[in-house]
Amino acid sequence: MEINAVRLWQRLMELGEIGKQDSGGVTRFSFTEEERRAKDRVISYMKEAGLTVREDSAGNVIGRREGADPLAPAVLTGSHIDTVPHGGKFDGALGVLAAIEALQSMEEKGIATDHPIEVIAFTDEEGSRFGFGMIGSRALAGTLRQEDLERHKDERHLSIADAMRAAGYDPDRIGQAAKDPRQVKAYVELHIEQGSVLERHRLPVGVVSGIAGPLWLQFTLTGQAGHAGATPMNMRRDPLRAASEWMNWIYREAGKYPNAVATVGKIGAAPGGVNVIPEQVEFTLDLRDIDEAARNALESSIWEYGNRVCASHQVELAVRTLQRVAPAPCSPEIMAAIEAACRKAGIEQPPALPSGAGHDGMQFRSRWPIGMIFVRSREGISHSPKEWSSQEDCGAGAEVLYHTLLQLANERKK
Ligand code: GLV
Ligand code: MN
Ligand code: MN
Repeated sequence: MEINAVRLWQRLMELGEIGKQDSGGVTRFSFTEEERRAKDRVISYMKEAGLTVREDSAGNVIGRREGADPLAPAVLTGSHIDTVPHGGKFDGALGVLAAIEALQSMEEKGIATDHPIEVIAFTDEEGSRFGFGMIGSRALAGTLRQEDLERHKDERHLSIADAMRAAGYDPDRIGQAAKDPRQVKAYVELHIEQGSVLERHRLPVGVVSGIAGPLWLQFTLTGQAGHAGATPMNMRRDPLRAASEWMNWIYREAGKYPNAVATVGKIGAAPGGVNVIPEQVEFTLDLRDIDEAARNALESSIWEYGNRVCASHQVELAVRTLQRVAPAPCSPEIMAAIEAACRKAGIEQPPALPSGAGHDGMQFRSRWPIGMIFVRSREGISHSPKEWSSQEDCGAGAEVLYHTLLQLANERKK
């Protein structure tokens, strides 16, 4: 093995202690003290790997290893170190640490490449704090707008811009984080699968064919509050009743599509009394498909049904689109490079599989070629403290990333 799987594992466990709760889950939201500590730890690993480190105006931590030709476009790799609430140790963190491990191993072996390689720990991929994710990768792609920073707010009504200022960043400089596509050759990310396809294949590593696009909507249904005992069933304007009928319909409808998934992850009823018919209900919907046309068709039918069900209960409906990210196919050339790297790592015929989860690379789909390496997840569980990939599988993934990077960055023959 060319990489050091033990060192990778030690760092993974160490980073997983930052933001760890008594229950065992890890919570690291963007622009918080926990995230700062995690970034500082990553910076120290990058320095140990011999990288030149900087933080851009979006808070992305970037470690660079120069190429023999410093003017050649860079090969980018990395992932994120923020987490969902009560998440695991692997989602995001493994991709950042495996990339650092790959570059540190090249350094220790004195291996040079023509192209520079940059490892990036992206700011806020998950979207957990502001209901708007991939903040750092959007900034790098040059698509993050000032109004995005003002519009999206956390539970305490702080905007992304407010949170950035409080953490010592200047939101007015966000544009400076954009990369000129001419300076980038490719982006390749290693990530845990978060599904169980690789487990079924009994293989540690797979090649991602494309990434499903998340559409996040927030619905607000407003009716009439009333007495739970004294208001006859046929005289109510109950937004929770309309919402529950609607949700049930959404789940059934999504199940008719081969690859669509629909999730209501957040719901609130106000004023929230056991004996009070709610006045207002708010819920979010996360809708995904690898096929954008299918997602569009499902979305239209959800609208149509929602309007009908709200009208029938005399409930008003308002909607906010939190984020609409297009599905992103992976580059066939990078997929081929990953397959070749798998063979070098002794993994024959790795399966090609789509990613249901979203990833930073999606933001680069029309900027430069992207590719992803998946590492087997135990029981496919993720976004949970039970998230797990073995030390051996993490090492195998990092080994594949190492060979992929050497191929994409043109290892110099001595
Ligand atoms: C991130 O994990 C997402 O897919 O929402
Ligand atoms: Mn992730
Ligand atoms: Mn995630």
